[in-house]
Amino acid sequence: MTFTLPELPYAYDALGPYMSKETLEFHHDKHHKAYVDTGNKLLEGTGLEGKTVEEIVTASYGTNQPLFNNAGQHFNHLHFWNWMKPNGGGAAPAALAAKIDEDLGGFDKFKADFIQAGVSQFGSGWAWLAVKDGKLAILKTPNGENPLVHGAKPILGVDVWEHSYYIDYRNRRPDYLKAFIENLVNWEYVEKLYGEASK
Ligand SMILES: [Fe+2]
Repeated sequence: MTFTLPELPYAYDALGPYMSKETLEFHHDKHHKAYVDTGNKLLEGTGLEGKTVEEIVTASYGTNQPLFNNAGQHFNHLHFWNWMKPNGGGAAPAALAAKIDEDLGGFDKFKADFIQAGVSQFGSGWAWLAVKDGKLAILKTPNGENPLVHGAKPILGVDVWEHSYYIDYRNRRPDYLKAFIENLVNWEYVEKLYGEASK
């Protein structure tokens, strides 16, 4: 199978109190699994079997919407689990922090603008920190879309589908986004992707 569901990189109860075991069980075991299973079915006969997830995302964008929805969400969730860690948040690593100061007006402004991107994404979607044309940018996308299809490389993203926060935060999406950025972000993983995107 081209798409496979990875194990979470931490225990299901490791992100409490900011993201519960119940949320991670539903989100990973039900939602992400459904994208993997449906995506594999939709891949059959497309000629894209065996391509990388990134290649399938970009190839299906605008040409095969059902496949794109599931491939996009698979890509997004593969990273989403790694964009969080127990005792996350805090300051960004020095080199990335300097770039955030340069391109986004400082760390506090970055955090406020990133949260606002997530709050203002109408309906389901994602908010992103991405590298585009050598600069950092904050983006938001609907449904399963991501910066790959807009000529940018995502280095941090947050899922604002209700399945990501409704059990823990009900309708309080801003509180979920604040907890994500203050207490969950795995900056080491963001820094790794920033290094790869900057090559
Ligand atoms: Fe999700």
